[in-house]
Amino acid sequence: MTIRPMSPQDKASLLPILNNTPEFKPIEVEVAEEVIDAYLAHGTDYGYHIEVAEDDGRVVGYVAYGETPCTEGTWDIYWIAVDKANRRQSVGKTLSDVAEKAIRDAGGRLIIIETSSIPMYENTRKFYHARGYEVIAKIPDFYSVGDDKIILQKKL
Ligand SMILES: CC(C)(COP(=O)(O)OP(=O)(O)OC[C@H]1O[C@@H](n2cnc3c(N)ncnc32)[C@H](O)[C@@H]1OP(=O)(O)O)[C@@H](O)C(=O)NCCC(=O)NCCS
Repeated sequence: MTIRPMSPQDKASLLPILNNTPEFKPIEVEVAEEVIDAYLAHGTDYGYHIEVAEDDGRVVGYVAYGETPCTEGTWDIYWIAVDKANRRQSVGKTLSDVAEKAIRDAGGRLIIIETSSIPMYENTRKFYHARGYEVIAKIPDFYSVGDDKIILQKKL
């Protein structure tokens, strides 16, 4: 498996992965696409970094991250998604390792991730827990009534 910066041709592979990710609502896929377009148009100048995972010539996942504006050394991992057919094969782990190394190399000291409290995100929460992220805050009913925002952090 190779992890490399996203190129314009990868968008056609990433959109079906996003659309086939049951955890993501259509509006979230729209926002993810806007971030992809901003990265493809402006590169990292716009604040977004995107790396894709390629396995046997096929894109199987991606991670989008960036320095949090108006902070010193705080970064967000905005999105990480792995093709349903390729989950639990260490793709997400490898993508997060690469993002964390890049953040560390850029002088980052703190990574923040936001996710949802609903049962559908249980595997996602297990993934972040396994990657060493800890829950530091919860905003009740943030996404909708009964769907809290969970904020996780990892200190580098
Ligand atoms: C979360 C996600 C990125 C994980 O990617 P992945 O490639 O399947 O995860 P990995 O194989 O690298 O798993 C690493 C570790 O996380 C934990 N983990 C991952 N998926 C898990 C699951 N379904 N159940 C329990 N633990 C899990 C395990 O400890 C695993 O290590 P192990 O396989 O050696 O036991 C993937 O499931 C996904 O795309 N989910 C939907 C999108 C999403 O929720 N994205 C995050 C919100 S922005």
